[in-house]
Amino acid sequence: MRQSSLVVVANRLPLDDNIAPDGACEWRRSPGGLAGALHAILDKTPATWVGWGGGIGTAKPLPDIGSLRMLPMGLSEDEHNGYYEGFANSTLWPLYHDAVSPPVFDRGWWETYRAVNRRFAQAAAEAVEPGGTVWVQDYHLTLVPQLIRELRPDVLIGFFMHVPFPPPELFMQLPRRLDLLRGMLGADLVGFQRPQAAHNISQLAVKLLGAQVTGDEEISFEGRTIRTGAFPMSIDVAEMQALSARRDVRDRAAQLRSDLGKPRRVLLSVDRLDYIKGIEHRLTAYSELLRDGLVKVRDTVLVQVAVPSRERVESYRKLRDRIEGEVGRINGEYGRVGETAIHYLIQPFDRAELAALYQTADVMVVTPLRDGMNLVAKEYVAARADNSSALVLSEFAGAADEFTDAFLVNPHDVDGLKDTLLRAMEAEPADLERRMTAMREHLVSHDIDFWARSYLTALDRTGRVAARLRR
Ligand code: ADP
Ligand code: G6P
Repeated sequence: MRQSSLVVVANRLPLDDNIAPDGACEWRRSPGGLAGALHAILDKTPATWVGWGGGIGTAKPLPDIGSLRMLPMGLSEDEHNGYYEGFANSTLWPLYHDAVSPPVFDRGWWETYRAVNRRFAQAAAEAVEPGGTVWVQDYHLTLVPQLIRELRPDVLIGFFMHVPFPPPELFMQLPRRLDLLRGMLGADLVGFQRPQAAHNISQLAVKLLGAQVTGDEEISFEGRTIRTGAFPMSIDVAEMQALSARRDVRDRAAQLRSDLGKPRRVLLSVDRLDYIKGIEHRLTAYSELLRDGLVKVRDTVLVQVAVPSRERVESYRKLRDRIEGEVGRINGEYGRVGETAIHYLIQPFDRAELAALYQTADVMVVTPLRDGMNLVAKEYVAARADNSSALVLSEFAGAADEFTDAFLVNPHDVDGLKDTLLRAMEAEPADLERRMTAMREHLVSHDIDFWARSYLTALDRTGRVAARLRR
């Protein structure tokens, strides 16, 4: 097998094997932060990406994309149920997001999770050159770092957690907490979105495994040194800026604005349809503003874009039903002929359409109850060179650490959310300009290349330190 010096392992490939079986290969920008953002850096790097193409059954071979080789992994029906929908998305996902939906502990899922992790680790171990680097991504593959270390002790192993990593009290609920922790600590560098997460893993390693904290962001465990740290993820800022500056995208934005029927203000939300995104709290706040007459359909409209996600998982199906019921109720109660309260678009859009949508908004409303980073907030800031619009942002999104000039809000506090929406809608142009300029300045120097470089440089440094120690 052809080997690469860099192997990325992530549950999802950025290429949909349902669209590209016979060479008609096209990047599918998966409506999720990880695949889209990593694609932006990896299509310029000689590397191999081990991941799942989205279907059920044997994986179809996929062509290389530029210098990036795809190594597709199939998932059987049982694996899809027990590993992807089960342990990853019904146990870990809700628990890691503050248990905003109750995590399900089904003892039958664990063995499947472990077996799939082993298969991914095996594939990565075969694909990496001697002395190369394997970079493992996210909560689906927590056991992979340790498994690769057993198979290939010569390689450098990085792990990056895209989602929040919970405080010890929550993590301790996991029946398989020791295995999960050991799995992650198989890496040389364990990276997170926020500094608190790095602190959480150190505390857990000490408490559960008797590890020692030997320095700032450094753990000693079973004779090895493991580094931890925060590396806030970002987007391809240049791509979004270039898209937003395109004439056709600007024309499309003007068209959308006029199709919305001349409301004075457009509020926009763009989310994967997930209970962590706080869509229901947002709808409650908006509906109360309409009820109290503080917002009128005559001059304000909310556009809610929601791309379907994990549709076979019951909590996601029920969420969709509840949201659609609520949107229907609000439109029925407050809308008028020709004046809709909420435009609800449950469709995937291409990048140009998203850029045009971002340009139609006066207020972008990003209010997850808990979110690892939230790249939509970053895309919006990149898209708005005009500096004339507002970003309302949840304190519980990783992006809040960097965008301190957004209108920050606690989305659990519906009254606070209503006040913040009103403040953002009524803000003075000079205030909006100051806030947007500060956010963009930060974003431009902290794009996806900066993220990958910071992480890989830190990983490389751990390798050199380890090599020196071995000598
Ligand atoms: P998450 O990773 O939890 O889905 P993020 O906000 O970090 O959340 O990333 C979402 C990504 O999905 C963004 O890049 C965004 O542009 C994209 N996206 C969201 N909604 C849609 C949609 N309707 N169509 C296409 N892409 C979408
Ligand atoms: C989040 C996760 C990613 C995941 C994405 C989309 O961003 O951190 O790992 O790929 O959501 O979810 P999906 O289940 O469709 O891959």
